[in-house]
Amino acid sequence: MEAQVNRSIDELLDQLAATNDGMTPFNITLPIQLCVGNIINETLFGYHFKYTDTDQFEFVINSVSKHLQNLKDNVWVLIVQAWPWTRHLPIIGRKGHAEPIRDISKFQDFIAEGVNRIVQTYDTDQEPTNFVQSYLAEMKKNPQLDLINLNQVAIDFWMAGMETTSTTLRWAVLLLMKHANVQEKVRSELWSVVGRDRRLEMADKPSLPYFNATIAEIMRAANTIPFLAFHRCGFIASTEDSIVGGKLIPADTLTLPQTYSVLRDERFFDRPEAFLPERFLEIDGTTPHKKNLERLLAFGMGKRICVGEGLARMEIFLVLGTLLLRYRLEPTDPIDMKPIFSVVLAPRPFKCRVAPL
Ligand code: HEM
Repeated sequence: MEAQVNRSIDELLDQLAATNDGMTPFNITLPIQLCVGNIINETLFGYHFKYTDTDQFEFVINSVSKHLQNLKDNVWVLIVQAWPWTRHLPIIGRKGHAEPIRDISKFQDFIAEGVNRIVQTYDTDQEPTNFVQSYLAEMKKNPQLDLINLNQVAIDFWMAGMETTSTTLRWAVLLLMKHANVQEKVRSELWSVVGRDRRLEMADKPSLPYFNATIAEIMRAANTIPFLAFHRCGFIASTEDSIVGGKLIPADTLTLPQTYSVLRDERFFDRPEAFLPERFLEIDGTTPHKKNLERLLAFGMGKRICVGEGLARMEIFLVLGTLLLRYRLEPTDPIDMKPIFSVVLAPRPFKCRVAPL
């Protein structure tokens, strides 16, 4: 995975070298989205988009963003989600079901094309080199797997893996511009461990305690997913009552766990509104603060914890670390930290100076 992430980082660095002059306010959002999208695309389908040819990519990410916005903002969609039978009614059905489905169908077509291309060319006797090939090889042995499920899983991965990670990285840029002293401290740690001639590696991670603590604080402050997914409650199946914190949750209740309140709770995080990477380090300044790290529920917890956690952590470490090793991120306008509320908490559009070092 690391080599794969690095290929997309190389594309990002090429893009920055070709399109950013280091002085003019630069929109870093698309390069970040392209980098993260390329990682997931290569994992699933084995290819990535060149920065010089991003029309299809931009179209796909825009439909995903619109879809996520629909899920939060479009009252008709919310009605159909709550009472699925209303999709058969004339106006609600069109606005809350048919139109959003039409909007997202281009994204589904893009995934289906990627899957079909591999279905037609891949010989299941060969060693698989991407997720779709692996799934096809597995499909021969497991009758529960089929092409419909493969398409759906690929959609889930693309959607869950793209918006979350790229949004967290955009928050990282904003937070590190706002807290320039933290940015400088991370950079000097990176320079002292990695130097300026080689690339950052996952093997460097244990030697970079302040950078690791800063990533944890970025995830806490960004709080990209303030609500987890709906979960139907039941200890083993949805047939048993549960007691959580002394409160009875009857079997089969739909719950919507809220991490926002935990990450901003002063009983767990002292001065929660402050940006303090040090809270994730012990008093010696280098040992990770285990307890606070356990409280950082950015990926959820339990059986349905984010399956992409390992990949997301690797992406954030390598992409952000590589950027900070080579560029200084500076604001060109007042920094606006008010989030846009959607399925993810996203930063407002911004430009910044990405100055080569
Ligand atoms: C910073 C980046 C990310 C964050 C903050 C994040 C966060 C989350 C959260 C909070 C959940 C819900 C857990 C629950 O329901 O209790 C989740 C689920 C999920 N995530 Fe992520 N995620 C990130 C990156 C990724 C990536 C890179 C992938 C895929 C490659 C991914 C794939 C998934 C999938 C498939 C699920 C559903 C798991 C299930 O229901 O069993 N995520 N994620």
